[in-house]
Amino acid sequence: MTDTVTDTAADNLLLRILLDPESRRDPYPLYQELRELAPVLRSSMGALVLSRYDDCLEVLRDPRLGRGTRARLAGELPIPEMPAGFDVDLEQSREFFERATNSMLFADPPDHTRLRRLASRAFTPQRVEALRPAVQAMVDELLDGMAEKEEVDVIEALAFPLPVTVIGELLGVPAADRAAFQPLVGAGVAALDPTASSDDLARAIVVQDEMAEYFVDLVAERRRRPAADLLSGLVAARDEDDALSDDDGFETTTNLIGNGLLALLRHPDQLARWRGDPGLARSGVEELLRWDSPVHLNGRTALEPAEVVGERLEPGDFVTVLAAGANRDPARFADPEVFDVGRADNAPLSFGWGIHNCLGAALARMEGEVVFNALLARFPTIELAVDEPERKPTLVLRGLASLPVRLA
Ligand code: HEM
Repeated sequence: MTDTVTDTAADNLLLRILLDPESRRDPYPLYQELRELAPVLRSSMGALVLSRYDDCLEVLRDPRLGRGTRARLAGELPIPEMPAGFDVDLEQSREFFERATNSMLFADPPDHTRLRRLASRAFTPQRVEALRPAVQAMVDELLDGMAEKEEVDVIEALAFPLPVTVIGELLGVPAADRAAFQPLVGAGVAALDPTASSDDLARAIVVQDEMAEYFVDLVAERRRRPAADLLSGLVAARDEDDALSDDDGFETTTNLIGNGLLALLRHPDQLARWRGDPGLARSGVEELLRWDSPVHLNGRTALEPAEVVGERLEPGDFVTVLAAGANRDPARFADPEVFDVGRADNAPLSFGWGIHNCLGAALARMEGEVVFNALLARFPTIELAVDEPERKPTLVLRGLASLPVRLA
C-alpha cells in the first residue's frame, strides 16, 4: 500500500465501530463522522476503509479485487496480521476458510464462475416470480399463527422461519429437517465478524461440517430417488455436490424483516402511507434495505497490483466497504437521513455489487414485498411491545435478536 499516514482520530472512530458493543445500537452517526473525517482511511489494521458510496461502488465492481481466500490458503497472497484487540486464532481461521472455499461467496474466478453458473439457474427472475404464490401461502400461514397471540416476537414467529422455509422448499429440504437449521445459522454468522472469537470460529467449523454432511446425504438421496425440486434438477444437470450448501440468505432475510419492521414502527407516517398503498412495496423494500441494511460491512482483497479510489494496492491488501454507511451518503442520496418508502432512484449497496452481487437479491426482495404487504393488510395495529428491542451482537450481519410487538 502507499504509506499514507493514518488519521488517528478517524482510526479510533473505526475501532469504536468495530469493537464497541455500545455502538451496535446506532452506528449511523459514527459512519457519518468517519465519512466526513476520513472517507478513504488507511486504518491501523492495515485495511483501506471506505465510506463514500462512489468509492465503495468502484471497489466492489473492480475485477482486480476479489476474495483471495484460496490464494491466501495456498500462500500466494499474504495473510494479514491481526492487530491488538482482535482475538483470532490463525489456525482456526485457516480451518474455517478451507471449508468456505466451497462456497461461491468466498471464491474467485474461475471457481466462482463455475459455482455461480450452476446455482444461478435457481434464481432467475422467472423462477423467483413463479415462487411468489407459494411464498404468499407460507407468509399467510405464519401470520395465522401470529394472529392467535396478543404479543408476539416477530423474529421467532416470522422473520426466521420464512427464509428457512422458502429455501427449504426451493432446494427440497424435507420440512422435518428445517427446524434444525436455526441454531446452525447463528453460529455461521458470528464467524464472519472481524471480532469473531475463538469460540465463534470453533462453533462455525462444526456447523460447516454438519451442513456439508447434511447436503452430501441429501444429494445422494436425490441421486437415488429424484424429486421435483431444484436439488434434483442440479444433480441431474451436473454431478457436483458443493455448490448449494451455502447458508447465505437465511439470516440476511431475517434481518430485512426485523430491521425493516422496526424502521416502519419508528416512522408511523411511512407505515400508514405504505398501508394505504400496497403499490409502494417495491420502493418500500428498497428503502428498508437502504435505511438499515441487513449487511453492514463488505470487503475485497487485491488479487493483483491495482490503483483504486486514488490509492495504490498491493496483492493481498484488504479493502473494507462500509456499505451501510455508504447507503446514507448525501452525495448519492437526497436527504439520506429521511426515511421515505416512496424514494425514487434508490440503489443501496446492501446486496453488494459486481460478480459477487447477491445471487438471492430477487428472491429476498420478493419475500420482503410479500411479507410487508401481508403484515400491513392483516393487522390494522402493530405496536412495539418494548422500547428498545434486543440486538444480536454481530456487525457484518446486523439485526435484532427479538422484536416483540402487540397486534390488533
Ligand atoms: C435481504 C436479504 C439479503 C441480503 C441483504 C444479502 C446480501 C448479500 C451480500 C452483501 C452479498 C455479497 C455481495 C458482494 O460481495 O458484492 C451476498 C452474496 C450472496 N448472497 Fe445474499 N443477501 C440476502 C439474501 C440472500 C438470499 C435469500 C440468498 C439465497 C437464497 C442469498 C444468497 C447469496 C449468495 C449465494 C451470495 C454469494 C454470491 C457470489 O459470491 O457470487 N442471499 N448477499
